[in-house]
Parts: sequence; structure tokens; C-alpha cells
Amino acid sequence: VNRRLPQDRAHSESTTTEAVRLEQLWRGDFGDAYTSRNRSAGERRNPFWLDLQARYQFQRALEVGCNLGANIQWLTSLLAPQGTYGIDVNFRALVELRRTVPSVSVVCTQARALPFRSEAFDMVFTIGVLIHQPPEALPTVMAEIVRCSRRFVLCAEYFARELTEVAYRGQTRALFKGDFGRIYQDLFPTLTIREQGSLAHDEGWDDVTYWLLEKRL
Ligand SMILES: C[S@@+](CC[C@H](N)C(=O)[O-])C[C@H]1O[C@@H](n2cnc3c(N)ncnc32)[C@H](O)[C@@H]1O
Repeated sequence: VNRRLPQDRAHSESTTTEAVRLEQLWRGDFGDAYTSRNRSAGERRNPFWLDLQARYQFQRALEVGCNLGANIQWLTSLLAPQGTYGIDVNFRALVELRRTVPSVSVVCTQARALPFRSEAFDMVFTIGVLIHQPPEALPTVMAEIVRCSRRFVLCAEYFARELTEVAYRGQTRALFKGDFGRIYQDLFPTLTIREQGSLAHDEGWDDVTYWLLEKRL
């Protein structure tokens, strides 16, 4: 056992280095430029959230990587008062989100260490955020998301059968498409997929696949 320790430590150090590299990218000018480009990204997403909340009745939700609120802007009026939370590494996006949607609670922090108690939310979700995690950090990020949810985990991400790097704005290892629903299930067998579907460009999304997973009681 002892002989394997240095190797394990090296693995976990390189995982953290990659996670930190991408967090810094999103924290700085690269993330600010994304925010500027995507001010109207959420304009047509209301029907999805309205329908989902009506069917599953979640009252407290956390979006991991919420940026300036393309999803959250639709949730505050549907959920319990003080029931909508967002975290992001990009501070400017959160300042703008708080200005436009004052009733949301935000924390500027990273996905791999969520500052919430276990099962604090009915639903924890990501939209276009798991794709931007280094594959080696996915188990940690997903574990944090699953830990903070009492019941539902939702993600909407670019799909591929296997994790596949996609070129992204001149950066290396900054975007990976994958079967994130299956990865959640493989890592956390207590999760079952309640729904899976496509969210198309002409409906205000980025041609992503979404998975709604539920913790088996
Ligand atoms: C592609 S944007 C998606 C924004 C939003 N979810 C939406 O649907 O419009 C990715 C967001 O996740 C944030 N992000 C990326 N990696 C993160 C991490 N490890 N922890 C926290 N936020 C992260 C970025 O700063 C950015 O705001």
C-alpha cells in the first residue's frame, strides 16, 4: 500500500493542476469575454424551466457555473423565496447576476469544493459546465454536485459516446463532450435517469443533451 502512495499523490496533484488551470481561465479575461458574448443566451429558456419545475416541484436549486443567469433568471420566481443559488468562478458574471436578479444567492467559488452542507438542495445542476472540467477532475466535481443534492441532479452538456476533446477558442483541454449521464450513473449507482432529451438551438439552447437523474431512496 505504501509503495503506491507517491504515485497516487502525483496523480492527484496533476488533477488539481489541470482543474486550477481551467478555473483560472474562466476567472480571468477568457471568462469575462464569454460573459460579454452570451448576454442574451438565456432569452428563450423559460419554457424548459417552467415545465420541469411544474413536473418535479423542486423548491431549492443550485446552479454550478451559473455565469450571469441564463437559467437562474427563470428559476427565482418558480422556487421558494431564497431558494435559488448559483456559484461560479467568474466574479464579474456574479456581480452582474446579482444586479439583474437580486433574489439569487451567489458564491464565487469552484465546483470541486462546494461550500454547502450535504443535501442542501432539491436539485443541483450544470448547463455547459461539465464539458469544461478536465476529465480527471470530473469524479470530484460530480461527487460534490451529488453530495449537495437531496434528490435531483441535472446536467445539459454536449454529447459524445466517449469523452472527446473538442477544439475551443484556441485553448487545449478546455472542452470535452461526453455521455455525462452515464458517467454520473457509473460513478454513483444510486442515481437513476428520470429523463434524457435534446435541447435544440432553435429553442434557445446550444444543441445539448440533458439528463435528469434522481437519487434512489
Ligand atoms: C459555458 S459557461 C455556461 C454558463 C451557464 N451555465 C449557461 O448555461 O449559460 C460555463 C460557466 O461555468 C463557469 N465555470 C467553469 N468551470 C468552473 C468551475 N470549475 N467551477 C465553477 N465555475 C466554473 C464559468 O466561469 C462559466 O461561467
